[in-house]
Order: sequence, then C-alpha cells, then structure tokens
Amino acid sequence: MNLILLGAPGAGKGTQAEIICEKLNIPTISTGNIIRAALKNGTEMGLKAKEYMDAGKLVPDDVVIGIIKERLLEDDCQSGFILDGFPRTIPQAEALDAMEIQIDCVLSIEVPDEKIVARMSGRRVCPCGASYHTEYKKPKQDGICDICGAKLTIRKDDEPATVLDRLHVYHEQTEPLKDYYAKTGKLRTVVGQEEVADTTKLTLAALGI
Ligand code: AP5
Repeated sequence: MNLILLGAPGAGKGTQAEIICEKLNIPTISTGNIIRAALKNGTEMGLKAKEYMDAGKLVPDDVVIGIIKERLLEDDCQSGFILDGFPRTIPQAEALDAMEIQIDCVLSIEVPDEKIVARMSGRRVCPCGASYHTEYKKPKQDGICDICGAKLTIRKDDEPATVLDRLHVYHEQTEPLKDYYAKTGKLRTVVGQEEVADTTKLTLAALGI
C-alpha cells in the first residue's frame, strides 16, 4: 500500500505511521525526521532548514521534493510506503503526481487546534528518534528513553507559540490538500481520539487492514 498521512502538526501522524509500518512491514518516510537527521549531522541542507523549522515555517518546496524523489527510489519503497508529513503544499502534491507513483489512499487525521496545543506541550523526544508523551505515552522512568537510556528533551518547535504558528501554516498551506485528494476519491478521514489505541482502531478500519 502506498499511503499518505495528512493532519495538523501533532495530530498523531507519526504515532499512527509507526503502527501501520509495523503491521504492513512498509517503511515510513517522515520528511520532518529526515530534515532533523540532516540537521543533527550538520549537512548543508539541515542547516538551511533549521531557521524554517525553528520558526514553525515550512522548508522550501524544492528541498523537500528533492528529498522525497531520492527516497522513493530506494529498494525498500518498492512494495509500499507511508508518507508522513509529505506533501504539505499543493506544489508538493503536484510534484508527487509528476513522479507517476500510484497513491492508494490519503488518510487525514482530524484533531481540533485546542487539543493539539495541549498535546504538543506534553511531547518529549529522544535523540535516538523515540517519542513519548507525559500523559499519553509515558517512558518507564520519568524523563529517560526506554530504548537507549538518554535524557528526553522538548522539541524546539513544540513550544506553544511555535505550535500556534505551525497550526496557522497548516490551515493555510496544507489543509487545501484535503480538497485536492477528495477530488481523486482517495481521501479518508478519521477523528483523532484522546487515547492512541482508539485512534488506531479507527485508522486500521479506515484502511481496511
Ligand atoms: P514534522 O516533524 O513532520 O512535524 P509535524 O507534522 O508538525 O508532525 P509532528 O511530529 O509534530 O506531529 P504528528 O502528527 O506526527 O504527531 P505525533 O504522532 O508525533 O515537521 C517538522 C517541521 O519540518 C515542519 O514544521 C517543517 O518546518 C519541516 N517539514 C517537514 N516536512 C515538510 C514538508 N513536506 N514541506 C516543508 N517543510 C516540511 O503526536 C504528537 C504527540 O501527541 C506525541 O507526543 C504523541 O505521543 C501524542 N499523541 C499522538 N496521538 C495521540 C492520541 N490519539 N491521543 C493523545 N496523544 C496522542
């Protein structure tokens, strides 16, 4: 299955992607994670992206389109993939169409803005890539990663003021993609619930898996 996950920042795309990835054994391609890894490695692209990310803005289309073009050519994507965080603008969706890769389903996870702001303030992340929540996904030991034992931190763009900027960008630039994909008949919608397990049930049912 070639799947796109749509949704506001913090709607739970990454969380659901992890679950679908395990169930279908297909890779998740998260442009956010790829950019954060580039930043950690000090690459030119990562450093260029930092100012946009930290301000809650989108990284320029040409940068992310280039990332996706390269990534989708890799062997592990040939039997399916989950796009988490791409496309995020109409030009990105058009660039994906131009790659002539069949998309089977676009799943939009809907969560009201007020809930997003509260959720994001509880997210804690580890440099190894693991993600936790102070209320909904607690690590075994407070503030410490279950997987590698490192100290958990707050993502810079999860500060409440930046989350509001990211939501603004989402409504202006990404939400129009719902109409774009509704016209193709591939859009399915789930309402994100308070508990991850409840959202997961709805997601799996919407995907028929
Ligand atoms: P990115 O990393 O993609 O950020 P995002 O879309 O804002 O995604 P998040 O990881 O914040 O949210 P999510 O929906 O995955 O939520 P999660 O499952 O983690 O992008 C970051 C930046 O990179 C962008 O701002 C931009 O600058 C740049 N970028 C990336 N892609 C780009 C593109 N295509 N074009 C241009 N720029 C791009 O959940 C959030 C929290 O809530 C977690 O703590 C989780 O445990 C908790 N949670 C999840 N589900 C539930 C639930 N059901 N109930 C309660 N809590 C829940």
